[in-house]
Amino acid sequence: MKRTNKVVGKVAGKGAGTLLVHGEGDFCAVASPSSMPIYQASTFFFTDPADVAAIAGGQKNGFVYTRMGNPTVKAFEDKIALLEESDAAVAFSSGMAAVAAVLLELLEPGDEVISSSSIYGGTRIFFDRTLRKLNCPVLYFDPQDDLKVKLPSLITKKTRLIFFESPSNPSLSIIDVRVIADIARKYRLVSVIDNTFATPYLQKPLLEGIDCVIHSATKYIGGHGDALGGIVAGPEKLVRRLRENMLMNLGGCLSPFNAWLFLRGLKTLHLRMDCHCRSAAAIAEFLAGQNKVRSVLYPGLREHPGHRTAGKQMKDYGGVVSLTLGSRAACRRFMKRLRLCRVGVSLGDTETIVMNAALMFNSKLSDAACLQKGIDPTLIRISTGLEDAADIIGDIGQALKGL
Ligand SMILES: Cc1ncc(COP(=O)(O)O)c(C=O)c1O
Repeated sequence: MKRTNKVVGKVAGKGAGTLLVHGEGDFCAVASPSSMPIYQASTFFFTDPADVAAIAGGQKNGFVYTRMGNPTVKAFEDKIALLEESDAAVAFSSGMAAVAAVLLELLEPGDEVISSSSIYGGTRIFFDRTLRKLNCPVLYFDPQDDLKVKLPSLITKKTRLIFFESPSNPSLSIIDVRVIADIARKYRLVSVIDNTFATPYLQKPLLEGIDCVIHSATKYIGGHGDALGGIVAGPEKLVRRLRENMLMNLGGCLSPFNAWLFLRGLKTLHLRMDCHCRSAAAIAEFLAGQNKVRSVLYPGLREHPGHRTAGKQMKDYGGVVSLTLGSRAACRRFMKRLRLCRVGVSLGDTETIVMNAALMFNSKLSDAACLQKGIDPTLIRISTGLEDAADIIGDIGQALKGL
């Protein structure tokens, strides 16, 4: 993919850490501040009213109104484009706003979507409710399927797009990114990945031939549990369409302050991800030796079905580990006994966060009904934080002992 990001050539170095720290370019005309200023402005003023039309039409650089663009938000967008090695990127108010924008922009009523069944629950609900209402049915494949056989069997004349996550939330399935890119290209479909769990530090799907990358920046990109946001990276034409149609008309724009928090978060992404991955690997090893644990899901474990593929397409195996216990009641007892790890629904933060979807989102559904919705009621997701791994393991160990 061609790189048109203007900052790339200006950084005197190519390493991931160097780009994360320096990749914002020269953003201030009057001084050289160490951090991007927050342009806390809803609108921008002009001496010549014709400039507004020129900026809106793309003939002139500049900003008109923060819903369509803002210097701080643009610095964040440019930095993600730099890291994902895409032509461009556009930011949204949340990860879900980004997912919804991509799907609503690319689909026409009657189009079909093929999606991995192992995806974030909120995306699944958007597919099954909103897309269905728009007459865009979603056909699911299992990440464990032989994709080269299964995917073509789902493709019809109406298929428009393939959507997937790798690693997926919360079961950490791995899908071969290149296989999806090849199938999409062969059948002239758009391939879209939610790269939230990997981040551009661990995985760059556009370089493998994927068309469009989405992130919930709320997670590792922000990294501190203090801001919601989303971002889409891809070809210039798609990004322009998303900005002109989805940001302009649906209005889910990122605030300048949150863009600044994400810029700050990105400066330490490499250090945080290395620590998250190291701790996750140690926790997975520990859990694999515990007799009260029914199974451990972590792509870094040799027994994980996606281990080899993950090793091929990722720099490391990620910061999230999932496990299953004997019952939903055991999960509840385990989570109530935790003293250091926190129980909550987000991930990618400095604190270790533990989640069980059946207890927290589907408490009225029976185990069988959960399984029918693709939710394992005995699965616990652990997003490893930046605490010392030995302390996290100590806490998990004492909570398991009480079962
Ligand atoms: C993989 C994935 N994609 C998208 C989202 C939605 O992001 P947000 O909460 O920022 O809307 C989430 C949220 O947990 C997620 O885990």
